[in-house]
Order: sequence, then C-alpha cells, then structure tokens
Amino acid sequence: MTSQASTRLRWAVDTLSPAPDDRLLEVGCGHGVAVTLVSQRLDTGTVIGIDRSEKMIAAATRRNRSHVDNDTAFLLRTEFPDTGLEPEFDTIFAAHVNVFWKRPVTALAEVRRLLRPGGRLYLFWQAPSWEPGFDKRGFAEPIAATLREHGLIDDEIIIGPPGDSDDSFCITAAAK
Ligand SMILES: C[S@@+](CC[C@H](N)C(=O)[O-])C[C@H]1O[C@@H](n2cnc3c(N)ncnc32)[C@H](O)[C@@H]1O
Repeated sequence: MTSQASTRLRWAVDTLSPAPDDRLLEVGCGHGVAVTLVSQRLDTGTVIGIDRSEKMIAAATRRNRSHVDNDTAFLLRTEFPDTGLEPEFDTIFAAHVNVFWKRPVTALAEVRRLLRPGGRLYLFWQAPSWEPGFDKRGFAEPIAATLREHGLIDDEIIIGPPGDSDDSFCITAAAK
C-alpha cells in the first residue's frame, strides 16, 4: 500500500501550485511522494524526479507506476548538478536537499541553465521537531542571499503551512 503524503509535502506542492502544462524537476525526490502529488495536477505537463540513490529511484518508480506509464512522471538516477538534462523547466524544487548552498557555484549554475527565464527554484525545509524554537527565517536568509549572489532574482521566504503547524519553510527565487 502507498503511504499517505505528509503535511509538509502537501504544503510544498500547494506552494508550487503547478499549472497543468508545466515542466518540473525535483532534485532528491526520495520515495517520490511529491512527484505523485505534482503528477496528479498535471495534464500535458511533466515532472522529472532525480535522486542519486538507486534504491530511492526504484521506490519512487514503484510508487508512481501509473504516472510513469502515461509519460507524466520520469524518475532518473543521477546526481545534481551533473544531470545532462535539457532546459527549459518552469520549476525546479527540492525538499531537504542541501546541494544548492553546499555547492552553490556548480549547483546554481545548473539551476540557471535548466530554468526558463522567469522559471523558479523552490527549496523546502522543515524545522527539526527536537528544536522547538528553531529560527526558520534565520536559517533561510543566508540561503536566499546565496541564491542572489549566484544570479537568481526576486527571492522570497515563505513560512507554512498556515495555522499551528507552520514548521516548514521555502526559499524561492527566479531565473532572469
Ligand atoms: C533527506 S532525503 C529527502 C527526500 C524527499 N525530498 C523528502 O523530502 O522526503 C534527501 C534525498 O535527496 C537525495 N540527494 C541528496 N543530494 C542529492 C544530489 N546532489 N543529487 C541527487 N539526489 C540527491 C538523497 O539520496 C535522498 O534521497
């Protein structure tokens, strides 16, 4: 049986709010839960989920069998930023993947190469449950600055989901 999507990933996909014809890339898709939620919103659009782990890509492919079979979802084992993918993505997103600020020179060059002009990068994170006072903005602001330094524009920090469980956050910025 396929596990239920967590609140944080449902909020993430609500935040992405993909149009039915969008082309999306998820970096570090893990079990492919967000790929499922995105695929359910697509019509002619596509979502590519990549992960460096063979095991995760196998699990994500099993979970998304119907979306893979109808050419909505594509799951590939590859390590970002060495993707070799063709541009023009409307959206690139990742949840709990730190390559964008650990290796900003190469990772953000690949983001700029892959996004269409005006396309957006979204980086999602959840505050650790064992740190009740976790400073989400304090964590996110240096990442937003890194995105700016490496040529992305219009950055924004979004805290969510709305209500008592606002333990997640997203740093988003656009390609010129
Ligand atoms: C902490 S898990 C998060 C999985 C999923 N995004 C989620 O939020 O449930 C991070 C995943 O990203 C993958 N990953 C980390 N760095 C990566 C990179 N540079 N390229 C591709 N996959 C990566 C790992 O193999 C792992 O499956």
